Amino acid sequence: MAQPTYKTVFVFLDTDKYCSPFDLLVAIDAFPDSMIFKYENVTDEDAPKIVFDLLFPRGPVGAAHTKVFINGSNFEMVEKVVEATQKAMKSAPWGNSIIVDPRGGYSTAAAAVAKTFGASMAQGLGSLEGKKVTVLAGTGPVGQTAARIYASEKADVTITSRSLSKGQIIAEKINQECGATRVKVVEVNKPEQTASAIKDAQIILAAGAGGIQLLTAADLNQAPNCKIVGDINAIKPLGVEGLGPNDDNKELKPGVLGIGALAIGKLKIKTEVEMIKRAVAEPQGLFDYSIAYTIAKEQILKKLAKTAAK
Ligand SMILES: NC(=O)c1ccc[n+]([C@@H]2O[C@H](COP(=O)([O-])OP(=O)(O)OC[C@H]3O[C@@H](n4cnc5c(N)ncnc54)[C@H](OP(=O)(O)O)[C@@H]3O)[C@@H](O)[C@H]2O)c1
Repeated sequence: MAQPTYKTVFVFLDTDKYCSPFDLLVAIDAFPDSMIFKYENVTDEDAPKIVFDLLFPRGPVGAAHTKVFINGSNFEMVEKVVEATQKAMKSAPWGNSIIVDPRGGYSTAAAAVAKTFGASMAQGLGSLEGKKVTVLAGTGPVGQTAARIYASEKADVTITSRSLSKGQIIAEKINQECGATRVKVVEVNKPEQTASAIKDAQIILAAGAGGIQLLTAADLNQAPNCKIVGDINAIKPLGVEGLGPNDDNKELKPGVLGIGALAIGKLKIKTEVEMIKRAVAEPQGLFDYSIAYTIAKEQILKKLAKTAAK
């Protein structure tokens, strides 16, 4: 009897009312022969019921072709759904690959950090270890994931927030995770407070909501050690005065390289596609911000090696 062949199926568990078409399209373009099932308004209570029903029908061989993609704009709920999904999967001796990229937060943060790593290497400043990094508005999904990745690279991270207590919850969570005090918070609820958050920074990443300028040219003059500035806000007004969305290691001012939101966005898409491909290639495993960063950094290292070989 011929072996059954299995179609790749992506099961989207989205915590929002509507599943964003963004990641559905990225997945279907990466695997045009695949199928997508989508579930919306998913909570940690709902997740196990769906997971049990996707885990068993295809058996261990077929389950390797069923991929779960967890998504949503509520970062905390996404984390809860991931936890509930992993727990439910333990009820079978096999599992499924789980991709997590809440509204692009993981792949975008991974790409942003990797781009600043690349700029640091290109300038001869070395790796991110020990670098003083300020993530402006480091409390959103992208900003806090960037802070988490910088901390995992042993950078000395400052995040800003309009609310000290909101920032502290995030800093404490990351510090606990890495077992060291790598992230601190500076409250910035007036533009003139930005200077104190960036005075020692060698790298600044603006991670604010769309259409909010967080760093002016005058602010940047208050950061004498700064060599790299990144911005992830592609909606005008952009996050950093004078930094264009397509700028890619372009001098923002003498001695300071700027990386704009669309330059980061290009690496973000590559990273997300590769995350999906790796999740499809593996029968199980968690494909989250950490894998996203490994992928984005590999891309940068490849580019650096190519430039060095010229
Ligand atoms: N380039 C790409 O490929 C890509 C992909 C995905 C997202 N993005 C962009 O990445 C950025 C961050 O996304 P996100 O989802 O993490 O953002 P978000 O949650 O909407 O906002 C991030 C932070 O911005 C701060 N903020 C909001 N309104 C503000 C205001 N009026 N003044 C000052 N600060 C304000 C908030 O911090 P506090 O409340 O703590 O002050 C918030 O936590 C957005 O611009 C988004 O469009 C880019």
